[in-house]
Amino acid sequence: MEHSAISQGEFARFQRFIFDMAGITMSDSKKALVSGRLAKRVQHFGLPSYDAYFKLLTDGAHKEEVQLAVDLLTTNETYFFRENRHFELLREFAISSAEAARGSLRANAPFRVWSAACSSGEEPYSIAMVLADVLGGAPWEVTASDISTRVLERARAAHYPMERATHVPQDYLRRFCLKGIRDQQGTLLVDRALRQRVSFRQVNLNTALPGDLGTYDIVFLRNVMIYFNGDTKRQVVTRILQRLKPGGHLFIGHSESLQEMGDVLRPVIPSVYRKPE
Ligand SMILES: C[S@@+](CC[C@H](N)C(=O)[O-])C[C@H]1O[C@@H](n2cnc3c(N)ncnc32)[C@H](O)[C@@H]1O
Repeated sequence: MEHSAISQGEFARFQRFIFDMAGITMSDSKKALVSGRLAKRVQHFGLPSYDAYFKLLTDGAHKEEVQLAVDLLTTNETYFFRENRHFELLREFAISSAEAARGSLRANAPFRVWSAACSSGEEPYSIAMVLADVLGGAPWEVTASDISTRVLERARAAHYPMERATHVPQDYLRRFCLKGIRDQQGTLLVDRALRQRVSFRQVNLNTALPGDLGTYDIVFLRNVMIYFNGDTKRQVVTRILQRLKPGGHLFIGHSESLQEMGDVLRPVIPSVYRKPE
């Protein structure tokens, strides 16, 4: 079957599917992308059409395939130290939090950061490198989550082609990454000590958040709201704000905005917001 054979009606059903599953709004311009990404699955099952694949996804007996389709329909582009200004601010906030905590009752409370759409792990490991640098052995932890189990597997492996490391500071590369040798040449592995501070889990931001997530000093919610419509965005941010500590910060992508939430968040710089105490 030619993947260009998706009809408008079939495409509309997949638009609905990914909206219901992930809150992702796909415009009509994504038709070729959807047919291209799903063509292999249609072929894999030897099905005559995208509609037949849609029926399979919704028959209640193919849970794993539903996850796979969600994996295929999400866009996972990311890189280490993306939008570097955020990592400079992370450094500042972590230092001032450690100073404020010194000698106080919360001296032993970990500094907690959540990378809420972490893709293949470059974002949470960048966060972890900064925290290891400025907080060292003091208590801190990073939670990293995504809806896609495929990217979470890659994130847990922490193993990347060396060319992905272009934006990692040289000093961090030396301290926090192992350079592959022999058959691993041209790759890097994030150091074990750092990996142990980052916990990965699947979280769908489009549904109620797991009760045991806890609360955070900083949440990175970057380059995922671009896929959400206004309503979904408001619901997602409202859920996330409940997990942000008073005085905590929310980081969003530079091309995203949170104008709608002006009453509950204070802008610090464009793309960084503070939850009032
Ligand atoms: C473009 S990546 C952004 C990665 C990283 N935050 C960055 O800025 O480089 C968007 C990620 O959002 C995830 N995503 C999309 N919808 C989601 C949802 N409803 N819940 C959780 N993650 C979602 C995708 O799987 C993808 O990995």
